[in-house]
Amino acid sequence: MAWTSLCELSELEDGQGKYVEIEGFQLAVFLSNGKVYVMDNYCPHAGGNLAGGFVDDGCAVCPWHYWPFHLENGQLRDSPGVKVKTYETRMYEHEGRHLVQAELPMP
Ligand code: FES
Repeated sequence: MAWTSLCELSELEDGQGKYVEIEGFQLAVFLSNGKVYVMDNYCPHAGGNLAGGFVDDGCAVCPWHYWPFHLENGQLRDSPGVKVKTYETRMYEHEGRHLVQAELPMP
């Protein structure tokens, strides 16, 4: 596992997703009520781009057919057996920049 910088906090918009591709990971980064969440970008329904979605009631909502995945654990709202992988996040301050980091499984 390694903490990896994904973007700056200022690049995120509350309630919206941002796509980040890094180290072979395709990720959706969300800001909701001042907290950052990171999950895989790929929607298990039909491969929608979760980063293109939005936050509703604590869930990242896929823009294709509106499946809602909990920001905290990636579980589909009404069917927790269906899940998107989520990653631990933290803020890291470096030379005045507020970096969003996720703990990614590195070899
Ligand atoms: S592809 Fe995401 S809800 Fe259908």
